[in-house]
Amino acid sequence: MSDAELNLAYLLAAALFIFGLKGLTHPRSAVRGNITGAIGMLIAVVVTLLDQGLLRPELIALGLLVGAAVGAALALRIRMTAMPQLVGLFNGFGGAASVLVAGAVFIVAAHSAGAMQTAADAADAAGAAGAAAGAAGNAGSAAALAVSAQETVATAASGLIGAVTFFGSLVAFGKLQGLVTEKPLRYRGEQVVKVVVLLAALAAAAMIVLEPLETGRYWALAAAAGLLGILLVLPIGGADMPIVIALLNSYSGLAAAATGFVLSNTVLIVAGSLVGASGIILTQIMCKAMNRSLANVLFGGVGAVVETAEQDDLYAGKVKQTSAEEVAMLLKTARRVAFVPGYGMAVARAQTAVRLLTEALERDGATVEFGIHPVAGRMPGHMNVLLAEERISYDKLREMDAINPSFPQTDVVIVLGANDVVNPRARESSGNPIAGMPILDVDKARTVVVIKRSLSPGFAGIANPLFAAENTLMLFGDGKNAMEGLVEAYKDA
Ligand code: TAP
Repeated sequence: MSDAELNLAYLLAAALFIFGLKGLTHPRSAVRGNITGAIGMLIAVVVTLLDQGLLRPELIALGLLVGAAVGAALALRIRMTAMPQLVGLFNGFGGAASVLVAGAVFIVAAHSAGAMQTAADAADAAGAAGAAAGAAGNAGSAAALAVSAQETVATAASGLIGAVTFFGSLVAFGKLQGLVTEKPLRYRGEQVVKVVVLLAALAAAAMIVLEPLETGRYWALAAAAGLLGILLVLPIGGADMPIVIALLNSYSGLAAAATGFVLSNTVLIVAGSLVGASGIILTQIMCKAMNRSLANVLFGGVGAVVETAEQDDLYAGKVKQTSAEEVAMLLKTARRVAFVPGYGMAVARAQTAVRLLTEALERDGATVEFGIHPVAGRMPGHMNVLLAEERISYDKLREMDAINPSFPQTDVVIVLGANDVVNPRARESSGNPIAGMPILDVDKARTVVVIKRSLSPGFAGIANPLFAAENTLMLFGDGKNAMEGLVEAYKDA
């Protein structure tokens, strides 16, 4: 392949990645965006293999088949609530691939440079005729130079970031999967230990750049960076893992971009940079929606405290319990109904019953909308994906700013397994973990029905005055059972 053909194909692949990302910005175009990006990746992989003279069609087909089978099996079998850990694992594999590829290229280059250096030294020592020795000597120093600048810096960056990503992602996966304690693991001198390990990793990276022929240092760097990855993620609580995973996703992109510099592969640099940038933007969006700084997520440890005493004070004698029949009667006369789904809907898998009730309400002429908070559930777009599974029209899904003004005109709001995202305590300026977080103003609706199993707090661990509000009715039960009961009661009402 000529350079021009190669670069043209890479340009096409890069353009497809960017169009793919654009498609992912809206649920309606997300599937198309995904496919567009995948086609770009296919072009990039095939063209790279062609360029390297590695195009054995049967091998490529086999690779595609095995990869697609593993990917499809994982994607089909995984529960929606387990999606964050799957993404975490994928990021980790990206980081590991960067460590291994950059390391392999670097070691091969360093060994051949080392061999040429030895040949040059031997020629010098044997006192061979000036021209031969000079030529070998020049070749030796040229080879050493070839692994000195771009390659060594990029290799060190790839090893450092890639190993942090891989081991950090494994801990994140373990926490979400229940293999490692979800609690923030804190100890005395934690920050000092992390700084010491970081300095060790940076020292190993500097040695690689200064003495590129000593390849053993690459593995020392990977080991120190891996330990750093573990130490960075262990002190973070399980519930904050989705943000950590978005951040590690960004790191995996940076590691890939660095590997692109090792290989001088343009499309890997572009793809890695896109992942790096989009990962950090997603991290920023999630932090903003929770009104928390990244530093607070990384070093704060939210979700540990449950204020039981305060809860008793707040709820005593004020919580009104309701029944499916009573809610069905309310819904029969309602003209405008809104659902506000949260984490509990995902756990209970109550979305099918939500669709059935929506259809029944619409048949009776009611307007039904869905209020979607950006951090409802446990991963970005969690509620959108669940509602899309039920083919609930995107037109009914309203973002926070769009739906909030209409709550005062809404007859009934059904809060299904959501808690923090509707907690009025977020309006306080400080003093609780969600202070300042923008919320869905469901308390302004005429009647609020909250479906959950108990008065337990949500992710932030704080009581919710909404449950004790004058216009709130609590329908206790598992989200799916309660919603199915409501569908039946509505039919009979
Ligand atoms: P939460 O505040 O976590 O509340 C979920 C509620 O669901 C709980 O109070 C629980 O009450 C109820 N629930 C659990 N299982 C249920 C079941 N089977 N049936 C019915 N209800 C059930 O959820 P939210 O309002 O969606 O807020 C999300 C929280 O997660 C926010 O604090 C957000 O900052 C945080 N977070 C979000 C993300 C992303 S990206 N979405 C990432 C990290 C953290 P019971 O136990 O009484 O049933």
